[in-house]
Amino acid sequence: MKSVAPVTRLFVCTAQKDEVGKDVIKALKTELKKQGLKKLLSGGEKRKVRVQTCNCLDLCKQCKKGSGAALIVYPEGTVYGNVRPKDAADIVHEHLGEGRVIERLQIT
Ligand code: FES
Repeated sequence: MKSVAPVTRLFVCTAQKDEVGKDVIKALKTELKKQGLKKLLSGGEKRKVRVQTCNCLDLCKQCKKGSGAALIVYPEGTVYGNVRPKDAADIVHEHLGEGRVIERLQIT
């Protein structure tokens, strides 16, 4: 039987009027390539990283009041708010690469 590689998913809301979430997704994908982290080594196991669009994450305050998007890291459950494209490098490097939650963006 074929084993399925575990996956870390970044769900990004794209329901803002200015669709900043789509720009966040592009920036995250660019950073994953640039930093060579499309596959992670986490806790001794290899994990793929997927960046996925979401219509709404029920965190609308984070999308409609600020100038960024809501983002959930799955399956661990970290929630970031008001994420802008310029935050992509930190999310990839610090969160995915080094396993450190970015406090300035974290909402839960
Ligand atoms: S509109 Fe982005 S979480 Fe609802």
